[in-house]
Amino acid sequence: MSVREIRHPLVQHKLSLLRDKDISTRSFRELTGEIGSLLTYEATADLELEEYTVESWIGPTAGQRIKGKKITVVPILRAGLGMLDGVLSMVPSAKVSVVGLYRDEETLQPVTYFEKMASDIDQRMALIVDPMLATGGSMLACIDMLKAAGCEQIRALVLVAAPEGIRLIEEKHPDVELYTAAIDERLNDQGYIVPGLGDAGDKIFGTR
Ligand code: PRP
Ligand code: URA
Repeated sequence: MSVREIRHPLVQHKLSLLRDKDISTRSFRELTGEIGSLLTYEATADLELEEYTVESWIGPTAGQRIKGKKITVVPILRAGLGMLDGVLSMVPSAKVSVVGLYRDEETLQPVTYFEKMASDIDQRMALIVDPMLATGGSMLACIDMLKAAGCEQIRALVLVAAPEGIRLIEEKHPDVELYTAAIDERLNDQGYIVPGLGDAGDKIFGTR
């Protein structure tokens, strides 16, 4: 797996605001979406273009449009929904394939409870969105589900990644590309990323 830590000043500024322990639900939600947009901008920078003719106000003019594979955005419920609108603001025509997973608090193992993929997912590039890559178990389960459905090109966008999760995905799926706003230090005994953001789902939905 290739890993890109996006050091863009806007991303780092917004991520630091997200780490504030007193942040409001509203601000956490807004910033999560905004970073989602910026990560999408980076993750789509190498999409191939093709030439076509635009019928402009002065007649035919050379234009460019994205060629080939279209995108499906794959939010991992629940916290991935917090990034979805921001991602779709960059790729508004993308189809959305939803995967429901939660992490068992005792075992830290992912539990799957929902799956609804785009019907033509085998012809699309998947952009998985989830704020946190901790042990990597949830991301691994999602990638396995996408590949089982025939998806061949997969990129993952996360706000914060732990080295443990990166190692797991690198080992199991070396073809997947990861875009993250930060690679943090480690996991604590409860499987939370340090320094991380705390429980991202609770902060996005105001359930903490
Ligand atoms: C969080 C997060 C990831 C997962 C990461 O979800 O959004 O999906 O944990 O942990 P892992 O890398 O160790 O699997 P959570 O299980 O808290 O569910 P939620 O999104 O419904 O809050
Ligand atoms: N899930 C979260 O929301 N935060 C973490 O640090 C790890 C998993």
